[in-house]
Amino acid sequence: MAVQLAPSMLAADFLNLSAGVEIVNKHADIFHLDVMDGILVPNLSFGFPVVDAIAKKAEKPLDVHLMIVKPWNYFQRFAKSGASMISFHLEAARLDGKNPSALLQELKGLGVKAGLAINPDIPVEDLYPYLQDADFILIMSVFAGFGGQKFIPESIDRIATLRKELDKRGLKDVKIEVDGGVGAGNAAALAQAGAEILVAGSSVFRAEDPAAACAAIKCS
Ligand code: DX5
Ligand code: ZN
Repeated sequence: MAVQLAPSMLAADFLNLSAGVEIVNKHADIFHLDVMDGILVPNLSFGFPVVDAIAKKAEKPLDVHLMIVKPWNYFQRFAKSGASMISFHLEAARLDGKNPSALLQELKGLGVKAGLAINPDIPVEDLYPYLQDADFILIMSVFAGFGGQKFIPESIDRIATLRKELDKRGLKDVKIEVDGGVGAGNAAALAQAGAEILVAGSSVFRAEDPAAACAAIKCS
């Protein structure tokens, strides 16, 4: 099955973001935009000004990964920025006792694809009550917060388990996105396990030849 490649703009050169956008426009499928608040995750990244700037030049869909508390406060604003996909963390919903299904429906109501994300320490089974409400599930293969971390190999089995559950329940349209430490070395195994969207930051933007890195991930 053909995977979609979503380079994470967090790893792009912020002094030359325009060149980073070109790489995705020409060689990849989706812009992955990591929004962090320093509370849900121990790091800050970027917000509306950067997303809006990328949106102006982007020719591929924008996928906003919200690593923030109270993400629902910003759904509408990111939809207005032009996001086609928005994900939030199950951990963020739990912190405020919010129903993830209702939040996913809220995203759908804004006309965006709705995604639910989990860190590596959350059992995939915790997602099961919400699968029918999601357009995609984001499986973190590192702990959310930083680019350039080492891929956690157990993520492959977690994806396979989730794919099996989705298939068993006839939820074939729910896509699995994997994020963290992804590159040409593990892309084939991830696709084989059932991931359909591969997020890749360092392996694309820190490569000597980002175009070749995109091709290597997509073709592996
Ligand atoms: C981590 C982010 C990732 C990150 C991926 O919290 O969600 O999207 O930018 O970067 P790499 O591919 O370098 O692990
Ligand atoms: Zn991400």
